[in-house]
Amino acid sequence: MLNKETILNELISISILISSKSSLNDLLDTVLLKAREITNSDAGSLYLKEGNRLIFLITQNDTLKDINKNFKSYPIYIDKHSIAGYAAFTGDIIRIDDVYNIPKEYPFSFNIEFDQNNNYKSTSMLTIPMKDNEKEVIGVLQLINAKDKDNETVSYSDEIEKIVESFASIAAVAIKNVQLKDSIKRAHLETIYRLSVAAEYKDTDTGSHIKRMSKYSEIIARKMGFDKNYCELILYASPLHDIGKLGIPDAILTKPAKLDPDEWEMMKKHTAMGYEILKDSSEHLIKFAASIALTHHERYDGNGYPNRLKGDNIPIEGRIVSLADVFDALATKRPYKEPWPLDKIIDLIQVERDKQFDAKVIDAFLDSLDEVLEVQRRLSE
Ligand code: C2E
Ligand code: SIN
Ligand code: SIN
Ligand code: FE
Repeated sequence: MLNKETILNELISISILISSKSSLNDLLDTVLLKAREITNSDAGSLYLKEGNRLIFLITQNDTLKDINKNFKSYPIYIDKHSIAGYAAFTGDIIRIDDVYNIPKEYPFSFNIEFDQNNNYKSTSMLTIPMKDNEKEVIGVLQLINAKDKDNETVSYSDEIEKIVESFASIAAVAIKNVQLKDSIKRAHLETIYRLSVAAEYKDTDTGSHIKRMSKYSEIIARKMGFDKNYCELILYASPLHDIGKLGIPDAILTKPAKLDPDEWEMMKKHTAMGYEILKDSSEHLIKFAASIALTHHERYDGNGYPNRLKGDNIPIEGRIVSLADVFDALATKRPYKEPWPLDKIIDLIQVERDKQFDAKVIDAFLDSLDEVLEVQRRLSE
């Protein structure tokens, strides 16, 4: 059997490994895998608490290698009827030598559905509530069929139970940290998004321009072959492209006619003003948004504003957002213009190939037109 020092070293290395995981799915997979390794378990499942329920999220099974092919996550109630529910409800570890012989007087019973559907035979089971540093249950680890060195199914020992208990609390803290980080990230992105929409209410009725043009930007970036991170970046940064319009008088923004030369000079400043608002951030997403704010009215032929950048000297994010923005501006009503029909918009985009717009961006856009129009339909005001 394992000696204390080996166990301690093992737990430390696992703890380092799991705290290096930044994606929740990756972390949960690793936690379950390591728990099965320590206990030499054939199978296992992991549940996370969500409100008053446990969500059955992952399962691993050495005997049934293809188990995850048809796996669907589902909720179970945190009450005394299921084994995992009982562990979460009471905070107690449940060790069962044979799940087919649970005494009748126990409040919980084994759900044989899984065994029946998969032609599997569960026997020994160790079900551990994962408790965070405040002793709150955040989920449940369930280990099934401990194996001895001859691969015979055996019961879980007292010793293993203690080790897994420590492991489960390390895992719980790591999981909670990743959940918190995810939630902070979502809150940040949502705040940016909501502020962008609020700013946009100044010159359109609904703020839905922001929602559409950011989706279009993401679609174009994806078609151009940018990776998932980049596409997410442009999706969340592009809503800020016109944030500089906060500095433009409403009388100009909502003027139901063509701007006079002074008004137009003022209006063009929304690019540099947006850049000034955003440029000093230490956050990559905000700096990226600053670049978009500054460059989304540059033209590929060098006749745009504010800096008359030309060709690929215009950052790619500016070139992408430029087309996404103009497509949506043309397709919708503005205080100063009526919406254009689709064929007229496509004609203009073609005419502006290598003039206003980068041909590479145009091609990606036109190749994704079905998807663009689907978003447009879904997000129409
Ligand atoms: P916006 O309304 O969001 O329009 C974004 C861009 O879509 C425009 O950038 C322009 O490139 C394109 N666009 C919009 N409508 C038309 C159009 O009728 N024809 C053509 N060819 N392109 C169009 P742009 O021109 O740099 O304008 C920037 C912003 O300035 C506009 O944002 C809008 O807020 C304001 N703006 C531009 N022209 C006028 C105007 O005549 N009257 C008023 N009140 N505002 C204007
Ligand atoms: C349980 O009884 O703990 C649930 C078992 C399962 O659904 O696999
Ligand atoms: C303007 O000169 O007022 C803007 C022209 C345009 O909408 O492109
Ligand atoms: Fe703009």
